[in-house]
Order: sequence, then C-alpha cells, then structure tokens
Amino acid sequence: MNHLLTSIQFNSIELTQIFERAKEMEEILKEGKANIAKGKLMATLFFEPSTRTRLSFEAAMFRLGGEVITAADWQNTSLKKGDNFHDTAKVVSKYADLITIRTAQADDLEQFIEGAEVPVINGGDGTNDHPTQTILDLYTVWKERRALYPNGVSGSGGPLDGATFGIMGDCKNSRVLRGMAKAASEFDVKIIFIAPTELKPNSDIEDFLDKREVEYHGVSDLNEVVANLDVLQVNRVRHEYFEDKKRAEEIQGQFIIKKESLKNAKEELILLDPLPRINTVLREVDELPQAKYFDAVENSIPVRMALICKMLDL
Ligand code: CP
Repeated sequence: MNHLLTSIQFNSIELTQIFERAKEMEEILKEGKANIAKGKLMATLFFEPSTRTRLSFEAAMFRLGGEVITAADWQNTSLKKGDNFHDTAKVVSKYADLITIRTAQADDLEQFIEGAEVPVINGGDGTNDHPTQTILDLYTVWKERRALYPNGVSGSGGPLDGATFGIMGDCKNSRVLRGMAKAASEFDVKIIFIAPTELKPNSDIEDFLDKREVEYHGVSDLNEVVANLDVLQVNRVRHEYFEDKKRAEEIQGQFIIKKESLKNAKEELILLDPLPRINTVLREVDELPQAKYFDAVENSIPVRMALICKMLDL
C-alpha cells in the first residue's frame, strides 16, 4: 500500500519530482480547477485541532476535481465511545479512495495503518512527524532559491544544495522541526539547531544526521548564526507536551522573532513558520522580504495536489 507517513519517505530525486509536479499544479490553479481526480473521494480524519492542514488538503482535492468527506471533530466520532483506530481505518477504507489523518500519538497512526485498505497520508502524528508540512516548506525554499539562482548555486547541484538551514525552537518535540532536519538532509545542506539545552533534538535525529554525514551543530542564541543562514525554520514550543507550562512560556519568550532579530540576516533568508504563530514571529516581521510563511501557506495547495496525485497514481 502506497502510504505517505514520514518526512524521509522520498529521496532528493523524488522530492524534486514532487516539486516539479507542484509547479505544474500552480498553472492548473490559475485556471481554477481540474478534472484529474474526478470520481475520487478523500476522507479527512483529524483527531487533533487543525486549520491549515485539513482545509488545504480538502481545497487541494476539490481543485483536482475530487470530493471530500470529513470527520473534523473527533469528539463526534465513534472513537469517543470506544472504537479503535484499526477498525476505524478498515471502515473508512470502504468509503474513500484516500485518507488524510492527524493523530495525537504516533502509535494511533500505526494502528490505523494496520487496518487501512487505501492509501493514507499522515497529516501530523503527535510529536513524531508532519511530512506534508515539511514537503511544502521545502518546496517554498526550492521555489524561492530557484528564482534567486536560475543557473544554480555556484559549486552545487539543485536549488536546495549549498543552503544553511537554521532550525529553531522546540527541536525535541516539534514534529515540523524534526521532519525538516531529516528531509533537508536529503540535499547538500548544513543544519544549525537553535534551541536551549532541554529542547535540543533527541538522539534519534542526531544519529540520523550522523549516519548521513550531515554537517550540523547547535547554538542557543539566534544572534550567533543569523547572518549565515539561508533558511530559518521556526515552530512554537509545543506547550501541550510540557508538564511545566510556565517553563514552556519562558522558553518561547526567548525565541520570538522580531524585526530587530533579523537585522543582520541576509535579505534572501527564507523565514518559515508552519503556524499558528504563538509567540514565534511578531506581525511586524510580515513586511520584511524574509517573511515567507504565508507564501508557504499558498504553496500548500499545489504541493498537496501533487501529493494526492502521487498517492492515487494520477
Ligand atoms: N501547519 C499546520 O499544521 O497547521 P494546522 O495545525 O492548523 O493544520
């Protein structure tokens, strides 16, 4: 079964093919709608809150000419009365050709996959991964740098090669930061983690990067490295995973991006935040050339159109 479960599922060649397909989807979007997925039905099951992931997947399916059924409020599904993820997957597979799901725990997704009889896309599984967010953020970097360096970055291959990525915030619990660290390493990049000691990436990420011989290191202050960065990926501190909520707030307070924070940054720095921005980036930053997080939101539709087509072999 052709599921999309992790940020490391695709190699650099496959990612680039997805980016090229997303670019084609941008052309289709100029026309409004296509018939590529006519007759196909996607179910969206979100067992954690979401605005962007669920709505952009649903918009992408509609733009492809397909249709959607949704269970956006899990409290009103039978899981609330004791149903399990395995059986829910088996049942929904009888209704839809493709399922996009968000779970609060990675284990829940694993159980779901055991029962699934149609392709499943992971829309975020606890602290583990959020592959489609990672792919759309990488697409944003690819698109921006391709426009910036039409002849390639000197001495390297594609638009992502040669970039230095800053990954800042809750590198331990943020599925977006973890996913970006792993997926970006498909390309010839350097990674700098910007996090307090208690939120450094877990050893699984370090082991992964070591195995791939990726150049990376950690700092605790953005000021030390901001001038060297080509990409800065931030995400809120995942306070829902903290027992000490006050400490989570204190940490987040140290990592708020203000205009002042980027005064030494390259003008072509690409600043990404999957949103919601809960003390990650102040609104005053939105007017800076580096602010690309709403561009990424716009890019989410063509990227998710491309991913739906890949999963359905369209
Ligand atoms: N970026 C993101 O995952 O947002 P939502 O939680 O609103 O889906």
